[in-house]
Amino acid sequence: MPISTRKVSPVIGAEVENVDLSLPMTEEQLRGIRDALLKHLVLFFRNQHLSPDQHKAFGRCFGPLHIHPAPLGVLEGHREIVIIKADENSTHIAGEEWHSDVSCDAEPPLGSILYLKEAPPTGGDTLFASMYAAYDALSESMRQFLGGLTAIHDGARNYEGRRPDPTRPGEFPHAEHSVIRTHPETGRKALFVNRLFTTRVVQLTKHESDTLLEMLFRHIENPQFQCRFRWEPDSAAFWDNRCTQHLALWDYYPHRRYGYRVTIGGDKPFCRRDPLSD
Ligand code: SIN
Repeated sequence: MPISTRKVSPVIGAEVENVDLSLPMTEEQLRGIRDALLKHLVLFFRNQHLSPDQHKAFGRCFGPLHIHPAPLGVLEGHREIVIIKADENSTHIAGEEWHSDVSCDAEPPLGSILYLKEAPPTGGDTLFASMYAAYDALSESMRQFLGGLTAIHDGARNYEGRRPDPTRPGEFPHAEHSVIRTHPETGRKALFVNRLFTTRVVQLTKHESDTLLEMLFRHIENPQFQCRFRWEPDSAAFWDNRCTQHLALWDYYPHRRYGYRVTIGGDKPFCRRDPLSD
């Protein structure tokens, strides 16, 4: 049976209504989910019951799984599964600022699948924003300017104070990526700088870089580019990390929110220049 989707906002997000993620996917279902992800950028699933192995098996349908470079809590025996947890003892939560996951890696993830077992009675929503919409809303002059720039994404900006994974070289990963990213599958352009990891535009002075980044970080936060997901226990969200950013709201203290994230490996961002404008 083909998957059925219902949009949750005009620009980003759709709920998928008729799929059980714990079961092996048919070719038709997989194609449907891939196509829906490329079209809607983030997909939401309700009433899912996933064991760690089923969660990983679903993630592997889209590529090899990513191992997180920072020592976020991982599920025992499953280093591909990051625990996403907040309760009355937490001092911070994952993803409190707008970001795309692990953009400090040389090859940032393709996407992430977050599965929440526990959600607070109210609050704890995740906001998602389309970076295609953010790019499309820029003036042609600004797009041209940004198209020639690269920026540093520094893991230390987010992970400082947490022990790095000893199996990976360096303190924390950092990488230089194009500010505008061409999506490798859709060919569309997306803004690729984020408040959590991006520290410096390479070709500009520090003052110019700080000012430009602040302008872009604010631009990205326009509610017109967003949707907001209200979690229930046993919900899952699957986002395309190459063309979205997200923000986890921590407005439910002292309640508990608990789940697991599987992240799919990605590739080196690139910006394909328009031949007419080069
Ligand atoms: C994350 O940034 O992966 C966490 C998102 C969330 O907890 O909603």
